[in-house]
Amino acid sequence: MSIAAAREVAQVLNAKPNAVLGMATGSTPLGLYQELVRMYARRELDFSHVTTFNLDEYVGLPVSHPQSYHHFMHEHFFRHVNIPPQNVHIPSGTTTNYAAFCDWYEQRIREAGGIDLQILGIGSDGHIAFNEPGSSLSSRTRLKTLAKSTIDDNARFFKERDEVPIYAITMGVGTILEARRVLLLATGKNKAGAVAAAVEGPVASMITASALQMHPNTQVLLDEEAASSLKMRDYYDWVQEKKPNAPKV
Ligand code: GLP
Repeated sequence: MSIAAAREVAQVLNAKPNAVLGMATGSTPLGLYQELVRMYARRELDFSHVTTFNLDEYVGLPVSHPQSYHHFMHEHFFRHVNIPPQNVHIPSGTTTNYAAFCDWYEQRIREAGGIDLQILGIGSDGHIAFNEPGSSLSSRTRLKTLAKSTIDDNARFFKERDEVPIYAITMGVGTILEARRVLLLATGKNKAGAVAAAVEGPVASMITASALQMHPNTQVLLDEEAASSLKMRDYYDWVQEKKPNAPKV
């Protein structure tokens, strides 16, 4: 899955070296980042004109905190590739004025020309970024209160559950839907229900990933376990099998 995702990213960068990438955190995209780092080390990719915008950040964690998304991105990706630091954008979890920061973040995305490719994971409750169930499907970057189930899911990264932040700053569903292309990645059995609801269920704010059904260019990349609850699985395999012979559009 990670290699397939890296190929998609490489394709975007080859076509547009100054592409704007939307970045995600979590365990899911780790393999993708490792693969991109490998490709960069083999000089197959150049990030010197790339701009990035991360989806979200915990509120209250300093950037140096090992569980902050700033730290995660630096450790797993940014310090290994040549993206100019001034082109990297991650929401601030420590600003004094969240509303002003969120407006500025949206404005920066617009000034950069919009996001060409947004990488996404999915929460076990069907969220994208930190757009918890019930989030408006036209929401913009803002402060969100995390669902208890998300705090439980993410507690594995912290010493104590009490240390998991309760609030986050996140791109909205509406912000994400404006990306020109979206790659949604998911692995493991505990994502199977959320994936099936997002891909095959009704479009509903209770599963914010389902809003991607309205997006003109979203690709979903899954491992076997994450795909295991899809009702139309046979059809998707059939489509992949028949794709090479389809008339070119
Ligand atoms: C967090 C992040 C999401 C991510 C989700 C799943 O809630 N805000 O962007 O998709 O976790 O994380 P993981 O990939 O670790 O399962």
